[in-house]
Amino acid sequence: ASTLGAAAAQSGRYFGTAIAAGKLGDSAYTTIANREFNMVTPENEMKIDATEPNRNQFNFTNGDRVYNWAVQNGKRVRGHTLAWHNQQPGWMQSLSGSDLRSAMINHINGVMAHYKGKIAYWDVVNEAYADGNSGGRRDSNLQRTGNDWIEVAFRTARAADPAAKLCYNDYNIENWTWAKTQGVYNMVKDFKSRGVPIDCVGFQSHFNSNSAYNSNFRTTLQNFAALGVDVAITELDVQGGSASTYASITNDCLAVSRCVGITVWGVRDSDSWLGANTSPLLFDSSGNKKAAYTSVLNALNAA
Ligand code: G3I
Repeated sequence: ASTLGAAAAQSGRYFGTAIAAGKLGDSAYTTIANREFNMVTPENEMKIDATEPNRNQFNFTNGDRVYNWAVQNGKRVRGHTLAWHNQQPGWMQSLSGSDLRSAMINHINGVMAHYKGKIAYWDVVNEAYADGNSGGRRDSNLQRTGNDWIEVAFRTARAADPAAKLCYNDYNIENWTWAKTQGVYNMVKDFKSRGVPIDCVGFQSHFNSNSAYNSNFRTTLQNFAALGVDVAITELDVQGGSASTYASITNDCLAVSRCVGITVWGVRDSDSWLGANTSPLLFDSSGNKKAAYTSVLNALNAA
Protein backbone atom coordinates (compact mmCIF):
# COMPACT_ATOMS: atom_id res chain seq x y z
CA ALA A 1 0.00 0.00 0.00
CA SER A 2 1.14 3.53 -0.72
CA THR A 3 -0.28 5.45 2.25
CA LEU A 4 0.14 5.01 6.01
CA GLY A 5 -3.56 4.39 6.60
CA ALA A 6 -3.91 1.80 3.87
CA ALA A 7 -0.67 0.09 4.89
CA ALA A 8 -1.79 -0.15 8.52
CA ALA A 9 -5.20 -1.45 7.43
CA GLN A 10 -3.52 -4.48 5.84
CA SER A 11 -3.06 -5.84 9.38
CA GLY A 12 -6.38 -4.48 10.69
CA ARG A 13 -4.79 -1.45 12.32
CA TYR A 14 -5.23 2.28 11.82
CA PHE A 15 -2.72 5.07 11.32
CA GLY A 16 -3.83 8.41 12.71
CA THR A 17 -2.80 11.98 13.30
CA ALA A 18 -3.69 14.85 15.59
CA ILE A 19 -5.74 17.44 13.70
CA ALA A 20 -6.10 21.12 14.66
CA ALA A 21 -9.36 22.84 13.70
CA GLY A 22 -7.48 26.04 12.94
CA LYS A 23 -5.57 24.31 10.14
CA LEU A 24 -8.51 22.83 8.25
CA GLY A 25 -8.41 25.83 5.89
CA ASP A 26 -4.82 25.00 4.86
CA SER A 27 -5.14 22.82 1.77
CA ALA A 28 -1.52 21.64 1.88
CA TYR A 29 -2.26 20.33 5.39
CA THR A 30 -5.63 18.75 4.61
CA THR A 31 -4.35 17.14 1.41
CA ILE A 32 -1.68 15.20 3.32
CA ALA A 33 -3.92 14.49 6.29
CA ASN A 34 -6.74 13.18 4.13
CA ARG A 35 -4.47 11.06 1.95
CA GLU A 36 -2.33 9.40 4.63
CA PHE A 37 -4.40 8.91 7.79
CA ASN A 38 -7.57 7.04 8.70
CA MET A 39 -7.90 7.99 12.38
CA VAL A 40 -8.12 11.53 13.77
CA THR A 41 -7.51 12.90 17.27
CA PRO A 42 -8.56 16.53 17.85
CA GLU A 43 -5.37 18.14 19.16
CA ASN A 44 -7.14 20.55 21.57
CA GLU A 45 -10.79 20.84 20.51
CA MET A 46 -12.38 18.17 22.74
CA LYS A 47 -10.45 19.11 25.87
CA ILE A 48 -12.24 20.45 28.95
CA ASP A 49 -11.46 24.15 28.38
CA ALA A 50 -12.73 23.90 24.81
CA THR A 51 -15.91 21.91 25.44
CA GLU A 52 -17.11 23.42 28.75
CA PRO A 53 -15.68 26.97 28.89
CA ASN A 54 -18.34 27.96 31.43
CA ARG A 55 -19.79 25.57 33.96
CA ASN A 56 -22.54 23.46 32.40
CA GLN A 57 -22.40 25.50 29.16
CA PHE A 58 -21.00 23.16 26.57
CA ASN A 59 -19.43 24.30 23.30
CA PHE A 60 -18.76 21.77 20.56
CA THR A 61 -18.05 24.20 17.71
CA ASN A 62 -14.42 23.29 17.17
CA GLY A 63 -14.78 19.70 18.30
CA ASP A 64 -17.49 19.25 15.70
CA ARG A 65 -15.33 20.94 13.07
CA VAL A 66 -12.63 18.30 13.51
CA TYR A 67 -15.14 15.47 13.94
CA ASN A 68 -17.07 16.41 10.79
CA TRP A 69 -13.92 16.81 8.71
CA ALA A 70 -12.79 13.36 9.82
CA VAL A 71 -16.07 11.56 9.23
CA GLN A 72 -16.78 13.31 5.93
CA ASN A 73 -13.41 11.99 4.78
CA GLY A 74 -14.05 8.44 5.94
CA LYS A 75 -11.95 8.52 9.11
CA ARG A 76 -12.67 7.46 12.67
CA VAL A 77 -12.08 9.66 15.72
CA ARG A 78 -10.24 9.23 19.02
CA GLY A 79 -11.80 11.56 21.59
CA HIS A 80 -9.23 13.46 23.70
CA THR A 81 -9.70 14.00 26.64
CA LEU A 82 -12.41 14.01 29.37
CA ALA A 83 -10.61 14.17 32.74
CA TRP A 84 -7.21 15.85 32.99
CA HIS A 85 -5.40 18.17 35.39
CA ASN A 86 -4.28 20.35 32.47
CA GLN A 87 -6.30 22.59 30.15
CA GLN A 88 -9.08 22.90 32.69
CA PRO A 89 -11.20 26.04 32.30
CA GLY A 90 -10.74 28.61 35.06
CA TRP A 91 -14.00 27.73 36.77
CA MET A 92 -12.90 24.10 37.14
CA GLN A 93 -9.40 24.98 38.36
CA SER A 94 -10.95 26.75 41.31
CA LEU A 95 -13.14 23.82 42.38
CA SER A 96 -12.31 21.10 44.89
CA GLY A 97 -13.81 18.21 46.78
CA SER A 98 -17.31 16.97 46.05
CA ASP A 99 -18.10 20.02 43.92
CA LEU A 100 -15.20 19.22 41.58
CA ARG A 101 -16.14 15.53 41.57
CA SER A 102 -19.68 16.42 40.48
CA ALA A 103 -18.34 18.78 37.84
CA MET A 104 -16.07 16.06 36.45
CA ILE A 105 -18.98 13.61 36.22
CA ASN A 106 -21.22 16.25 34.64
CA HIS A 107 -18.49 17.10 32.13
CA ILE A 108 -18.01 13.47 31.08
CA ASN A 109 -21.77 13.03 30.69
CA GLY A 110 -22.19 16.27 28.72
CA VAL A 111 -19.40 15.65 26.22
CA MET A 112 -20.07 11.94 25.77
CA ALA A 113 -23.80 12.56 25.23
CA HIS A 114 -23.01 14.96 22.38
CA TYR A 115 -20.75 12.41 20.68
CA LYS A 116 -22.65 9.29 21.71
CA GLY A 117 -22.06 6.39 19.32
CA LYS A 118 -19.62 8.45 17.22
CA ILE A 119 -16.25 8.06 18.91
CA ALA A 120 -14.16 4.91 18.44
CA TYR A 121 -11.92 5.47 21.47
CA TRP A 122 -12.14 8.03 24.26
CA ASP A 123 -9.16 9.08 26.34
CA VAL A 124 -11.26 9.14 29.50
CA VAL A 125 -8.42 9.99 31.88
CA ASN A 126 -5.16 11.60 30.80
CA GLU A 127 -1.80 11.84 32.59
CA ALA A 128 -2.92 10.93 36.12
CA TYR A 129 0.42 9.43 37.24
CA ALA A 130 3.35 11.35 38.65
CA ASP A 131 6.63 11.94 36.87
CA GLY A 132 9.76 10.68 38.61
CA ASN A 133 10.31 7.53 40.59
CA SER A 134 7.32 7.35 42.94
CA GLY A 135 5.15 5.22 40.69
CA GLY A 136 2.18 6.94 42.32
CA ARG A 137 -0.54 9.33 41.35
CA ARG A 138 0.12 12.88 40.23
CA ASP A 139 -1.02 15.46 42.75
CA SER A 140 -3.87 17.45 41.18
CA ASN A 141 -7.22 18.92 42.10
CA LEU A 142 -8.87 15.79 40.67
CA GLN A 143 -6.62 13.46 42.69
CA ARG A 144 -7.44 15.43 45.84
CA THR A 145 -11.14 14.59 45.36
CA GLY A 146 -10.23 11.01 46.33
CA ASN A 147 -8.16 8.16 44.93
CA ASP A 148 -11.26 6.64 43.32
CA TRP A 149 -11.64 9.54 40.87
CA ILE A 150 -10.21 7.53 37.96
CA GLU A 151 -12.54 4.57 38.35
CA VAL A 152 -15.50 6.92 38.83
CA ALA A 153 -14.55 8.60 35.54
CA PHE A 154 -14.44 5.23 33.75
CA ARG A 155 -17.75 4.00 35.21
CA THR A 156 -19.40 7.30 34.27
CA ALA A 157 -18.00 7.05 30.75
CA ARG A 158 -19.18 3.48 30.21
CA ALA A 159 -22.74 4.40 31.18
CA ALA A 160 -22.66 7.55 29.02
CA ASP A 161 -21.60 5.79 25.79
CA PRO A 162 -21.39 1.99 25.92
CA ALA A 163 -20.19 1.90 22.27
CA ALA A 164 -16.96 3.81 22.88
CA LYS A 165 -13.76 2.04 23.87
CA LEU A 166 -12.50 3.68 27.05
CA CYS A 167 -8.78 4.40 27.37
CA TYR A 168 -6.30 5.58 29.99
CA ASN A 169 -3.65 7.74 28.25
CA ASP A 170 -0.24 8.84 29.53
CA TYR A 171 3.38 9.68 28.64
CA ASN A 172 6.60 8.16 29.96
CA ILE A 173 4.94 4.77 30.38
CA GLU A 174 6.64 3.24 27.34
CA ASN A 175 9.78 2.00 29.12
CA TRP A 176 8.96 -1.14 31.11
CA THR A 177 11.61 -0.35 33.76
CA TRP A 178 10.13 3.03 34.74
CA ALA A 179 8.21 3.37 38.01
CA LYS A 180 5.49 5.35 36.24
CA THR A 181 4.93 2.46 33.84
CA GLN A 182 4.59 0.05 36.76
CA GLY A 183 2.18 2.36 38.54
CA VAL A 184 -0.16 2.51 35.55
CA TYR A 185 0.23 -1.23 34.93
CA ASN A 186 -0.83 -1.98 38.51
CA MET A 187 -3.84 0.33 38.19
CA VAL A 188 -5.00 -1.40 35.00
CA LYS A 189 -4.46 -4.81 36.57
CA ASP A 190 -6.52 -3.75 39.59
CA PHE A 191 -9.27 -2.29 37.38
CA LYS A 192 -9.50 -5.48 35.32
CA SER A 193 -9.62 -7.64 38.47
CA ARG A 194 -12.43 -5.54 39.99
CA GLY A 195 -14.46 -5.04 36.81
CA VAL A 196 -13.81 -1.32 36.43
CA PRO A 197 -14.64 -0.68 32.75
CA ILE A 198 -11.36 0.04 30.94
CA ASP A 199 -10.77 -1.14 27.36
CA CYS A 200 -7.47 0.35 26.31
CA VAL A 201 -4.26 2.07 27.30
CA GLY A 202 -2.76 4.84 25.19
CA PHE A 203 1.02 5.25 25.18
CA GLN A 204 1.60 8.84 24.10
CA SER A 205 5.16 8.12 22.97
CA HIS A 206 6.72 11.59 22.97
CA PHE A 207 10.33 10.45 22.60
CA ASN A 208 13.35 12.69 23.11
CA SER A 209 16.82 12.42 24.60
CA ASN A 210 15.50 12.52 28.17
CA SER A 211 12.63 10.14 27.47
CA ALA A 212 14.41 8.04 24.91
CA TYR A 213 12.85 5.19 23.00
CA ASN A 214 13.92 1.83 24.44
CA SER A 215 13.36 -1.50 22.73
CA ASN A 216 11.62 -2.79 25.86
CA PHE A 217 8.60 -0.77 24.65
CA ARG A 218 7.47 -3.99 22.96
CA THR A 219 7.54 -5.80 26.32
CA THR A 220 5.47 -3.00 27.82
CA LEU A 221 2.85 -3.26 25.07
CA GLN A 222 2.75 -7.05 25.41
CA ASN A 223 2.42 -6.95 29.21
CA PHE A 224 -0.42 -4.43 29.18
CA ALA A 225 -2.22 -6.33 26.39
CA ALA A 226 -1.92 -9.49 28.48
CA LEU A 227 -4.08 -7.80 31.14
CA GLY A 228 -6.93 -7.85 28.62
CA VAL A 229 -6.86 -4.31 27.19
CA ASP A 230 -6.14 -2.95 23.74
CA VAL A 231 -3.01 -0.84 23.49
CA ALA A 232 -2.30 2.05 21.12
CA ILE A 233 0.44 4.54 20.37
CA THR A 234 -1.50 7.77 20.69
CA GLU A 235 0.69 10.89 20.34
CA LEU A 236 3.87 9.75 18.64
CA ASP A 237 6.71 12.13 17.89
CA VAL A 238 10.48 11.55 17.96
CA GLN A 239 12.69 14.60 18.42
CA GLY A 240 15.40 14.44 15.78
CA GLY A 241 13.13 12.34 13.60
CA SER A 242 15.26 9.16 13.49
CA ALA A 243 13.96 6.88 10.73
CA SER A 244 15.25 3.76 12.47
CA THR A 245 13.54 4.73 15.75
CA TYR A 246 10.28 5.29 13.91
CA ALA A 247 10.65 1.86 12.26
CA SER A 248 11.33 0.18 15.61
CA ILE A 249 8.26 1.77 17.20
CA THR A 250 6.10 0.70 14.27
CA ASN A 251 7.43 -2.85 14.51
CA ASP A 252 6.74 -2.91 18.26
CA CYS A 253 3.07 -2.21 17.60
CA LEU A 254 2.94 -4.71 14.75
CA ALA A 255 4.39 -7.39 17.03
CA VAL A 256 1.50 -7.12 19.50
CA SER A 257 -1.85 -8.33 18.22
CA ARG A 258 -3.78 -6.05 20.58
CA CYS A 259 -1.87 -2.96 19.43
CA VAL A 260 -4.72 -1.45 17.42
CA GLY A 261 -2.98 1.51 15.82
CA ILE A 262 -0.51 4.37 15.81
CA THR A 263 -1.28 8.10 15.91
CA VAL A 264 1.37 10.75 15.25
CA TRP A 265 0.96 14.07 17.06
CA GLY A 266 0.69 16.29 13.99
CA VAL A 267 1.09 16.17 10.22
CA ARG A 268 4.16 18.28 9.27
CA ASP A 269 7.08 19.33 11.45
CA SER A 270 5.66 22.86 11.37
CA ASP A 271 2.41 21.55 12.89
CA SER A 272 4.12 20.03 15.95
CA TRP A 273 3.67 21.37 19.47
CA LEU A 274 7.46 20.89 19.73
CA GLY A 275 8.30 23.30 16.91
CA ALA A 276 9.63 22.43 13.48
CA ASN A 277 13.29 22.71 14.49
CA THR A 278 13.19 19.40 16.36
CA SER A 279 12.03 17.61 13.20
CA PRO A 280 9.73 15.29 15.15
CA LEU A 281 7.15 14.16 12.57
CA LEU A 282 6.86 12.26 9.27
CA PHE A 283 6.47 15.21 6.86
CA ASP A 284 8.76 18.23 6.68
CA SER A 285 7.38 21.73 6.94
CA SER A 286 6.93 21.88 3.17
CA GLY A 287 4.88 18.70 3.22
CA ASN A 288 7.57 16.43 1.80
CA LYS A 289 7.81 12.83 3.01
CA LYS A 290 10.82 12.38 5.29
CA ALA A 291 13.04 9.31 5.67
CA ALA A 292 11.04 8.51 8.81
CA TYR A 293 7.87 8.37 6.70
CA THR A 294 9.40 5.82 4.34
CA SER A 295 10.68 3.69 7.21
CA VAL A 296 7.23 3.58 8.81
CA LEU A 297 5.49 2.81 5.52
CA ASN A 298 7.96 0.04 4.72
CA ALA A 299 7.54 -1.51 8.18
CA LEU A 300 3.75 -1.48 7.81
CA ASN A 301 3.98 -3.04 4.35
CA ALA A 302 6.33 -5.77 5.55
CA ALA A 303 3.90 -6.90 8.26
O1 G3I B 1 -5.89 28.90 20.93
C1 G3I B 1 -5.16 29.74 21.83
C2 G3I B 1 -5.08 31.13 21.31
O2 G3I B 1 -6.38 31.69 21.24
C3 G3I B 1 -4.20 31.95 22.25
O3 G3I B 1 -4.06 33.25 21.76
C4 G3I B 1 -2.83 31.29 22.36
C5 G3I B 1 -1.89 32.04 23.31
O4 G3I B 1 -1.30 31.21 24.25
O5 G3I B 1 -3.00 30.01 22.85
C6 G3I B 1 -3.77 29.18 22.03
O6 G3I B 1 -3.96 27.98 22.68
C7 G3I B 1 -2.83 27.12 22.70
C8 G3I B 1 -3.29 25.78 22.13
O7 G3I B 1 -2.26 24.83 22.25
C9 G3I B 1 -3.70 25.88 20.67
O8 G3I B 1 -2.60 26.22 19.89
C10 G3I B 1 -2.35 26.94 24.12
O9 G3I B 1 -1.79 28.16 24.59
C11 G3I B 1 -1.33 25.83 24.21
O10 G3I B 1 -1.03 25.60 25.57
C12 G3I B 1 -1.89 24.59 23.60
O11 G3I B 1 -0.91 23.58 23.63
C13 G3I B 1 -1.39 22.26 23.51
C14 G3I B 1 -0.96 21.46 24.72
O12 G3I B 1 -1.37 20.11 24.55
C15 G3I B 1 -1.56 22.02 25.99
O13 G3I B 1 -1.48 21.16 27.05
C16 G3I B 1 -0.80 21.66 22.24
O14 G3I B 1 -1.35 22.32 21.10
C17 G3I B 1 -1.12 20.17 22.17
O15 G3I B 1 -0.38 19.58 21.12
C18 G3I B 1 -0.71 19.50 23.47
O16 G3I B 1 -1.07 18.14 23.39
C19 G3I B 1 -0.75 17.35 24.53
C20 G3I B 1 -1.83 16.31 24.68
O17 G3I B 1 -3.10 16.89 24.73
C21 G3I B 1 -1.59 15.44 25.90
N1 G3I B 1 -0.25 14.88 25.91
C22 G3I B 1 0.83 15.82 25.71
C23 G3I B 1 0.61 16.65 24.45
C24 G3I B 1 1.78 17.59 24.19
O18 G3I B 1 1.90 18.54 25.20
